[in-house]
Amino acid sequence: MRIAFIGDIVGRPGREMLKEHLKNIRDEYKVDFVIANYENASHGFGVTAKNANELLALGIDCMTGGNHSWDKKDIEALFDTHEILRPHNYPDEVGGTGCKVYDVAGEKLGVLNLMGHYSMPLVDNAFRKARDAVAELNEQGVKNIFIDFHAEATSEKRGMMMLLQGEVSAIIGTHTHISTDDFQIASQTAYLTDIGLTGCRDNVIGMDSKVPLKQFLTGMKGHFDVPKKCKKILQLAIMDFSNGKCLNAFKLKYFCDGRIIKTEAYKED
Ligand code: FE2
Repeated sequence: MRIAFIGDIVGRPGREMLKEHLKNIRDEYKVDFVIANYENASHGFGVTAKNANELLALGIDCMTGGNHSWDKKDIEALFDTHEILRPHNYPDEVGGTGCKVYDVAGEKLGVLNLMGHYSMPLVDNAFRKARDAVAELNEQGVKNIFIDFHAEATSEKRGMMMLLQGEVSAIIGTHTHISTDDFQIASQTAYLTDIGLTGCRDNVIGMDSKVPLKQFLTGMKGHFDVPKKCKKILQLAIMDFSNGKCLNAFKLKYFCDGRIIKTEAYKED
């Protein structure tokens, strides 16, 4: 099966890039299943029902979340009706689920959404929950497992890879909005510390730089805003999974000026 993963879609600029490119990407690369992170999709904070419907209709099959999953009130109802996850390590009394299994190209695919700990809400242990969820999926006969690990700390993301390499098909980080340069396949698990945002590539993490700069210069907090006009980027990973292994992986970056940059994941022994 061929999977595509898009990280944090930030506001209208991110949604516009998907509208422009996702259908063509699905066709050109013969993608069977698209996963994307929704937690900043509606003006940078959460996702509305309207935007969730638009995004899923563009060719996204499953959406993952993070610490901003609950920023829009529509989300609770969406959990029951749409292919929308929230981090699996929120406690059981919270609505929604962080793990779902899909039939894709004749095999099973488990999608697992986890959230890290540094600078994040207090939730259950991501590493223990990950290990338990993978064991449970294996018991159900699910070998292909994709993890969106939504975390601030690079060390936590790398730690998750060391814990689960060889046990899952891919671990890709989200949340920082800044892409890292370490896409690799080790022990047949694809790993990337952070895939980076889809949205504005100038300014600060997809947001207008005025408020963050004021915060950095004065210590005064303010409400972050998605710019109306900006330079946009769409970033995605494409991966081939079979029998639990990642066989091949590469990343694509689409710039709004027409440039496309492709980077192969490097293979470790
Ligand atoms: Fe986040």
